[in-house]
Amino acid sequence: MALSSKLKQLFSTSPKKNNWPGLIEAYKPWLPVTKKTPIITLHEGATPLIEVKSISKRIGKGVQVYVKYDGLNPTGSFKDRGMTMAISKAKEDGCEAVICASTGNTSASAAAYASKGGMRAFVIIPDGYVAQGKLAQALVYGAEVLAIKGNFDKALDIVQELSEKYPITLVNSVNPFRLQGQKTAAFEIIENLGCAPDWLCIPMGNAGNISAYWMGFQEYFIAKKSRKLPRMMGFQAIGSAPLVKGHTVANPETIATAIRIGNPVNKEKAMIAKSSSNGKFSSVTDSEIINAYKILGREEGIFCEPASAASIAGLLQLKEEVPKDSKIVCVLTGNGLKDPDCAISNNDSVFHSGVEANITEITKTMGL
Ligand code: F0G
Repeated sequence: MALSSKLKQLFSTSPKKNNWPGLIEAYKPWLPVTKKTPIITLHEGATPLIEVKSISKRIGKGVQVYVKYDGLNPTGSFKDRGMTMAISKAKEDGCEAVICASTGNTSASAAAYASKGGMRAFVIIPDGYVAQGKLAQALVYGAEVLAIKGNFDKALDIVQELSEKYPITLVNSVNPFRLQGQKTAAFEIIENLGCAPDWLCIPMGNAGNISAYWMGFQEYFIAKKSRKLPRMMGFQAIGSAPLVKGHTVANPETIATAIRIGNPVNKEKAMIAKSSSNGKFSSVTDSEIINAYKILGREEGIFCEPASAASIAGLLQLKEEVPKDSKIVCVLTGNGLKDPDCAISNNDSVFHSGVEANITEITKTMGL
């Protein structure tokens, strides 16, 4: 084949992602947008579905486990899927400022999309409980950050009240456009896998994402774009597990600060997702979370944040219940770079500091 036709072929078959317009353009007929909606996008979505053999091997029984690596979205978390919709609709309404409560990722995403859309962003976060990377993002994207002496649940009460009293749009997952955007992750999974998975394992905090996935899986099922529905398997950290316990947790605690939530605002929707999919909610310990986090890093080259690893930890915990030959997708909601402090204190790698800068010393240290 001549070089010019080879090049032509190369460019004509370039992967979808190179021209990916963002999820609103890609899934327009499935979303509540019109010709008048200004699309505020950072080209979110189209994140990879990656087979994780080290986890499949631990389950056995011919099971195939995949991760939906949503930490590869523009601001490093799944929140971007919801935020492109929430901010575009806010812009359509002429809104000039948005507000959210956040354990970190929502604030980073809201700040980025508000800046792209030319709006102000106010974010209220629990002081001392937001990972450094997330705080850095909100500041760099130009948000006004208020760190309060209270937890996420308190912050959410406050922003709900403020958005009722002032002309500021609330962009937490009580905003219905957030879930509309987030449901597209379910579409992508079905398109990549060729079918819905048998289980969808997902971490739960405010329980918006599990509700959004369930909506997406149902919509594709109704439209006959998939022939089955997954069981929705939701996981919480044991110290912050209101949906497993069945009651509010006053002082939630966990290493996975993203899901340190005691009173999930989407609890009813999440309970419906569980019961109608014959799903299951379970809690995992912080050490199970860190174990899964380390396996993904060391054996798969995948760096997720601790909250995301709860989906893998939960699957490993329920290993005996996994049906043979099934296909399972675990959602990795956020990027590991978000929480460098957790990474540095939770790894089994060797770190030699203060090594003299000469070959003799270095080879000695390396044991060569
Ligand atoms: N994983 C990560 C990395 C998150 O940041 C969150 C939520 C969840 C899972 C849980 O998703 O709330 O839809 O059940 N983070 C929110 C925030 C609360 O403020 O960034 P959910």
